[in-house]
Amino acid sequence: MVGDNDNDRRKYVPVIESRIDRDSADFQQDRDAMLAALRPFEALAAAVLEAGGPKSVDRHRGRGKLIARERVDLLLDEDAPFLELSTYAGAHDPESQPGGRLITGIGPINGVECMIVANQPTVKGGSLNPDAVAKQLRAFDIAHRNRLPLVTLVESGGADLPRQADTFAFGGRIFRDISRLSAAGIPTISLVFGSSTAGGAYLPGMSEYTVLVKNAAHVYLGGPPLVKMAINEDIEDEALGGAEMHSRTSGLADYLADDERHAIRLGRQIVGDLGWRKSGPPPSSRADEPIYDRSELLGCAPSDSKRSVEVREILARVLDGSRFDEFKAGYGTQLVTGWGSIAGYPVGVIANNGILFSAEANKGAHFIQLANARDIPLLFVQNITGFMVGSAAEHGGIIKDGAKMINAVSNSTVPHLTLMVGASYGAGNYAMSGRAYDPRFVFTWPNHRIAVMGGPQLGGVMSIIRRAAAQRSGAEYDEAQDARVRAEIEDMIDKQSHAAYATGRQWDDGVIDPRNTRTILGLALSATHSAPVVGATRFAPFRM
Ligand code: COA
Repeated sequence: MVGDNDNDRRKYVPVIESRIDRDSADFQQDRDAMLAALRPFEALAAAVLEAGGPKSVDRHRGRGKLIARERVDLLLDEDAPFLELSTYAGAHDPESQPGGRLITGIGPINGVECMIVANQPTVKGGSLNPDAVAKQLRAFDIAHRNRLPLVTLVESGGADLPRQADTFAFGGRIFRDISRLSAAGIPTISLVFGSSTAGGAYLPGMSEYTVLVKNAAHVYLGGPPLVKMAINEDIEDEALGGAEMHSRTSGLADYLADDERHAIRLGRQIVGDLGWRKSGPPPSSRADEPIYDRSELLGCAPSDSKRSVEVREILARVLDGSRFDEFKAGYGTQLVTGWGSIAGYPVGVIANNGILFSAEANKGAHFIQLANARDIPLLFVQNITGFMVGSAAEHGGIIKDGAKMINAVSNSTVPHLTLMVGASYGAGNYAMSGRAYDPRFVFTWPNHRIAVMGGPQLGGVMSIIRRAAAQRSGAEYDEAQDARVRAEIEDMIDKQSHAAYATGRQWDDGVIDPRNTRTILGLALSATHSAPVVGATRFAPFRM
């Protein structure tokens, strides 16, 4: 049994000793602040579940159809967990309904972890606006890099026509990516429940297996009105692109389903017959619960950014058995590194415990190389205001040391999971595997803030630049205008660095309740082990 051997980590890895005082004023205040930060996401979650609103949902049901979420539920194994992704896509835009007009996520179908992408026909006909295109492409990217079979549940009006200028040129990548998944040996399956028109016809068109629902799926390059306009042909939906036609005449349909539930059963059957096996190693140690209460995570991030956070308190409530084999504990102490496991999968942890100096950057670069040498995934826990600035840091080589860490992160090939629990500012975001560094998954807590720098700092820098320019030209500096512009900039940066804005723009894969951190990281790690876990053997030359 896993863990019951001489190499059982429980026997030799120390347990983190928590020093949290639940009754302290700081803990209570931090906990209250976190609960308050969660509230807007509860409202967003309710808006996502509305799925376009009661009128649209009723009309859809009136046609005897299931809504997207019901289709996903029926497709998944009973009571199986579903790791929903980019749930609040579009939340930054008051004009758009949150959710990105799609449901995407990872869950087991006949025991096989699959990426599921479901159009939401009840939200603007399931047409694809820029949020939807970005969400779909992110899901395909995750499927590709983690080698997860892809199942698309199709019913969409295709490109959002009034927004075509924002989607057309890049949106075609959706069909390219399905083909590339398939060429990489990753199965692609399309279940078509309704409209799949124009470019959308290539969703089933590019898939390896297609299931079309009788008297519902309509797949054509041009619908009847376009056909009439283009070649003056009079033809009805069913005859032009119905499921029966495609299963008997064109050959686009591989399976003909009598109704939606039958299509979902066929989808499950196809996945079951794939004979798919995960290519990464299975869990290697006990997935025992942390010894501390996970609800205490609510009080583990400071509500006051001037107070530091002890990141080991977070690790103590996330890692299996709260066990942590800390590496280089006494050196570069503002970066915590070490070995642990989540859901039985080994992870190397790199966690901020303050600003990054040269020693921290060197330690990080070293540790990333070790994880790659051992083929062990990395968990980055970000709470970082950036690298140290100033003459002492510059003279000490902060750029070249930071460059080492960024080199290591850029070329590391083991899976990276990034968790943002507070600040994510400046190049610290990059060195700690921010979104631009292709982590397999990025999750954030609702309190997190992300920007090139804080609002007051950015406003102040811009003010110094304007003042110097005025001095050079001999013009008198308008202090009142300066104060106004600084306030505007601060306000703008504040809005744009909020977790809801960031997740709306899909800079991450989701905002999570801190209490669910361990479960979500466990599901994500399991998904990454669908692909082989292989460390890098080459990095760029490290600047010494
Ligand atoms: N772009 C933008 N909005 C679209 C859309 C599209 N491609 N397709 C549908 N919508 C919107 C409708 O304007 C409507 O908006 P509203 O709720 O604000 O009124 C909503 O989605 C529902 O559309 P509706 O036609 O009332 O629903 P339906 O279920 O009867 O039909 C479709 C759905 C998809 C079959 C139908 O809308 C359609 O044929 N759309 C155009 C498809 C097309 O030719 N796309 C070309 C893409 S390249």
